[in-house]
Amino acid sequence: MARSAVAAKVAADMKSASFIREMFERGRRMKAQRGDDHVFDFSLGNPNGVPPEQFFAAVRAVAAERQPGLHRYMPNAGFDECRAAVASFLSREYRLPIDAKSVVMTSGAAGGCNAVLRAVCDPGDEVILLAPYFPEYRFYTEQANARPVVVQTNDAFQPDLEAIAAAITPRTRAVLINTPNNPSGAVFDAAACRGLAELLSRHDRPDQPVYLVCDDPYRRIIYDLDWCPTPVHHYPRSIIVSSYSKDLSIAGERAGYIALPPALPERDVVLGALTMLNRTLGFVNMSAFMQRVIARCADALCDVEFYRGNRDLLCKALLEYGYELIVPRGALYAFPRTPIPDDVDFIDRLANHGILAVPGLGFGRPGYMRLSFCVDRGTIERSLPAFRAAIGEVRSR
Ligand SMILES: Cc1ncc(COP(=O)(O)O)c(C=O)c1O
Repeated sequence: MARSAVAAKVAADMKSASFIREMFERGRRMKAQRGDDHVFDFSLGNPNGVPPEQFFAAVRAVAAERQPGLHRYMPNAGFDECRAAVASFLSREYRLPIDAKSVVMTSGAAGGCNAVLRAVCDPGDEVILLAPYFPEYRFYTEQANARPVVVQTNDAFQPDLEAIAAAITPRTRAVLINTPNNPSGAVFDAAACRGLAELLSRHDRPDQPVYLVCDDPYRRIIYDLDWCPTPVHHYPRSIIVSSYSKDLSIAGERAGYIALPPALPERDVVLGALTMLNRTLGFVNMSAFMQRVIARCADALCDVEFYRGNRDLLCKALLEYGYELIVPRGALYAFPRTPIPDDVDFIDRLANHGILAVPGLGFGRPGYMRLSFCVDRGTIERSLPAFRAAIGEVRSR
């Protein structure tokens, strides 16, 4: 049989991931036809906020340094000073003593998730994903030779503990969660975090460990809450993966990390595996320059109030027009139900009104759509008549 130019699995993945590329291409065509001001792009999760001033001050200071060796390879887990700064920030943020040697710097949360899954999964292991989920989780899981097992969250996008319990098998190796969530904007409440921890504790055994991987890049982007609940305190086999992509608005700088909480059994072995994989997967880790920057501004945070303003403006209008929506309590996304069950069809209709959004289907939850509100305030303001017209059109059929 004739072979394709690229691996068959990759060719199949490229097809399944093509909806995002199609959206991008469609956006380009629409902008060329209608002009930039008449296309409202809510499809990209690329933070548009400005990084905080501490970040720029740190960049200037690091750029001025001239000691020898600053731009060479560093130890595989990262520079000690950067790991120490991140550990001290995380200890405050998670209210847990996390020490510097339990932190591994990575190329974004994406690099961190890949290293963690690769570190713990054997071929044929299962990784439970809670839908709606970040679409790349499927690829990360399969790249670790494991099998994604998708479990739906409930109507409020909270973990459905019974459904998770039913999905656990002797091959379950990890549960990968994300709160605040992309795409739903849901924050898992404290009871759900405790319940999930208790459930996994019943299945976790020394001879058959089950890891809880907490992918937390939106942790500090929360609205109406002082603190984001986490299961990490309640479940010893938790692994934190995160980055500064969203909360410093520096997604292009690939500033991520993995942190192992103090109670994690076999911490040193896991750390050793992560440190090796960071290199052998080809990331090495976050760039030397950026690590020295982060060492100076590990606590800094972007202007979350700006995103809150965007959320309020968009969600209030959508609810007023009749969209069914759970107002997001975190992250950068609203995830309304589409007014017709066929989300792909409704996305098409929105595009006819100049709005680009992503169908829920791509996140494992058809019948919904993701709207990224990390856009200019003006884009939201100008788009509102189009959102109203699109729902009016399907309601009047
Ligand atoms: C849930 C989630 N995890 C991981 C990532 C990857 O983030 P990073 O830029 O830190 O690799 C993203 C990016 O959008 C995300 O939404």
